[in-house]
Amino acid sequence: MNIVITGGRGQLGRELERVLGDYHKVILLDLPETDVTLPSEIETLVNYYPDLVIHAAALTDVDGCARDPLTAYKSNALGTHNVALACQRANAAMLYVSTNEVFDGTKGSPYFEWDTPHTINPYAESKLAGERYVQMLLNRFYIVRTAWMYANGRNNFITRVIAVAKEKGALAYVDDEIGNPTYAPDLARAIAQLLETKHYGIYHLVGEGIASRYDWAARIVQLAGLNVPITRAKLADFKRASTPPPFGALHNFVAATTLGIKLRSWQDALQEYFNSPISNL
Ligand SMILES: NC(=O)c1ccc[n+]([C@@H]2O[C@H](COP(=O)([O-])OP(=O)(O)OC[C@H]3O[C@@H](n4cnc5c(N)ncnc54)[C@H](OP(=O)(O)O)[C@@H]3O)[C@@H](O)[C@H]2O)c1
Repeated sequence: MNIVITGGRGQLGRELERVLGDYHKVILLDLPETDVTLPSEIETLVNYYPDLVIHAAALTDVDGCARDPLTAYKSNALGTHNVALACQRANAAMLYVSTNEVFDGTKGSPYFEWDTPHTINPYAESKLAGERYVQMLLNRFYIVRTAWMYANGRNNFITRVIAVAKEKGALAYVDDEIGNPTYAPDLARAIAQLLETKHYGIYHLVGEGIASRYDWAARIVQLAGLNVPITRAKLADFKRASTPPPFGALHNFVAATTLGIKLRSWQDALQEYFNSPISNL
């Protein structure tokens, strides 16, 4: 297949290239050369004759999106509109990478693929608007929602925890924000499997199991071999521009049940991250 990946230099884009590059012709697009918010780029995408476009480009700074919602809508909603139109014109399938934040986090248990989205911050609103464009304009699409993603060699939650631990000698993380830490190489492999199925639809692809920020940070400190105390905090203790869903964990029901596609446990994946020579510690 000819596969175009937007956000090709991002955490997920890089991993997708690694996984798909041996079997497909992969074209990576990213800023500054390709800005998906420009309608003129629709033609650029069409001219690559894609069989499939993986749209991973997004403004992912959730607090930045809260401070500047119109820029968030432009990037994440209108950018996705353009990519979906390009797929329509090129007769290509589309895989749109979306987020657990489309849910408000009040259900109290992991969200299924058919649960009704309800957003509580501008990042989530802009990503959900993107989902709607995809569904409105295309017949052949995958919407893959994921959460709490991290990759090797990047600044991420893990590198931040370690940096703060070393700098301050003590940590505090919330135990009332719940999600699924998801290792980008595992997600890329699951997406590669999904693409072969042509089983279009909405999927939740996340590391197996759930964790609070506190649980995740505590395991990071342990694996990094740091002897630093870590205390429990609450979301209400911190003032942030964006409001995260408190219980934002996803349940991978559809891909696991119908296709046998599952990611390993978040604990095993985290161990693998620390074993990697490029874990950027
Ligand atoms: N990271 C997570 O925890 C997480 C969780 C759930 C869902 N997701 C979704 O997963 C996808 C991939 O996330 P990621 O962590 O790989 O993101 P990332 O590392 O931030 O990469 C996104 C890439 O998109 C590029 N981009 C931004 N605006 C663009 C535009 N207008 N045109 C073209 N490219 C643009 C960015 O360029 P610049 O760096 O120059 O801005 C960056 O290279 C995103 O759609 C995100 O919403 C991520």
